[in-house]
Amino acid sequence: MQLSFDSRPAAQIETPALVSYVFEKENLIDGALAQLDQATGGRLKRLADSGELTGKTLEATLLHDPPGLAAGRLLLVGAGKPEKFDGTILRRVAGTALRLLRSKAVTHMTFLLREGERNAASAEAAAEGLLLASFESDFYKTEKKNGKAMEAAALAGAEGASVAEIEAGMARGRVIGEAQNFTRTLVNEPSNRLTPRMLADRGEQMAREAGLSVDVLDEKRIADLKMGALLSVAQGSIEPPRVIVVTYSPGQTKPGAPVLGLVGKAVTFDTGGISIKPSEGMEKMKYDMAGGAAMLGAMKALAALKPSVKVVAVVPATENMPGGRAQKPGDVQFAMSGKSIEVLNTDAEGRLILADGITYAKKLGCTHLVDAATLTGAIVVALSHFNVGVFTNHQEFQERVLQSARRAGEKMWPMPLDDDYRELIKSTIADIQNIAGAGRGGGASVGAAFLREFTDETPWVHLDIAGTAWLDDQKPWAAKGPTGIGVRTLVDLAMNLS
Ligand code: BES
Ligand code: MN
Ligand code: ZN
Repeated sequence: MQLSFDSRPAAQIETPALVSYVFEKENLIDGALAQLDQATGGRLKRLADSGELTGKTLEATLLHDPPGLAAGRLLLVGAGKPEKFDGTILRRVAGTALRLLRSKAVTHMTFLLREGERNAASAEAAAEGLLLASFESDFYKTEKKNGKAMEAAALAGAEGASVAEIEAGMARGRVIGEAQNFTRTLVNEPSNRLTPRMLADRGEQMAREAGLSVDVLDEKRIADLKMGALLSVAQGSIEPPRVIVVTYSPGQTKPGAPVLGLVGKAVTFDTGGISIKPSEGMEKMKYDMAGGAAMLGAMKALAALKPSVKVVAVVPATENMPGGRAQKPGDVQFAMSGKSIEVLNTDAEGRLILADGITYAKKLGCTHLVDAATLTGAIVVALSHFNVGVFTNHQEFQERVLQSARRAGEKMWPMPLDDDYRELIKSTIADIQNIAGAGRGGGASVGAAFLREFTDETPWVHLDIAGTAWLDDQKPWAAKGPTGIGVRTLVDLAMNLS
């Protein structure tokens, strides 16, 4: 989808669809809307008086051939109560407009920012909302059902504000929205079309196009590095594992400058292994690489946005399969760090591959670590599908990540990870075990406690995205399927860590 900026006054914009938004309040038709109302000879006021136009969140009001406007349609989307309005709602308003118009075969639209949003942050949010809404999960349908694609969207409505600033915000929104859609594209791929090797190829191609350096570790180098935890998961599959390392380096850094490590779980399919999952819903385990894909998406955006801090993404990728070579419950493995692990459940495989990913990121010189992983079903029990679960060994660093999440409009919530949880992963035969005993509860914190064993003193934040990486039902502003959660927060974090 093309994205551009239109500096003409609203009434003069020739477009199949001009879009703006309405707040739910006493006098709905004010500001930019009063101008549109005047141009159309009072149509908006009459709609409001009749009770048809209320401004309720995501209410859609479509006028055809509005008099006095050069546009073919005027679409007004409800923005809800002004005091609740924020970037999240603006993204949804813009996205809802795009998907509604697209369902009516409209291929071009112009989104008019109103008087309160003539700034870079709003332009960024609106651009993101449009791009994210344009994503569809029907990759392999031979006949597309969702009508024609939206070919071009423009932002408009800069009156009295700095066009340069708004265009810069829009450009940032385009970079981030496209990066998030890149992540969603990877996550949407079924496991037969995205094996660890194919994911590595896609990561490599992205890095090359973006001008990032990339190093893909194959099974031989993984073995040489003694990544025994990753290998123990991979050994059950005919597909060899990979570790994808993508590095962004700023021009110059001071000695002692932070290096941000982004470690992402990429299990391209999680059957559970010998501790096999029930068949019901197993197809969804193609999204068990969403953490790794989020890191690759964040790197794609950072290549364009150029933070002043070095960022290294480390993405361990494997399948988790049962089979004659698969590891079995009770097996003991040695992680790259040297720690021994009793694998009591082969379905708790994400923490195994992340253990080696974290160790390798530290070896590469990362001073701060964030991992993202579809790690536990337990995080869905705790937080449903609304919030990412956040765990840490360093409160200050966690606060920075949570701040980034708030700015980026990705909901995240801190979860406990104190020393008591460590007790639950003590093993009789080895240093640690990969699950707690039956009935101990707190599964998401137990997973985090296992990961913490590999971070040592390095400030680290763990994002459990099992509940938030996949949308089971479509929304007015988003397709059903991969969400691309994490990308925006990680980009904001890197941009502000410098
Ligand atoms: N990939 C799953 C977690 C998951 C569950 C992701 C639901 C997305 C949706 C993970 O590898 C897993 O199987 N975790 C187990 C851990 C358990 C064996 C301690 C789980 O949550 O059941
Ligand atoms: Mn699993
Ligand atoms: Zn998994």
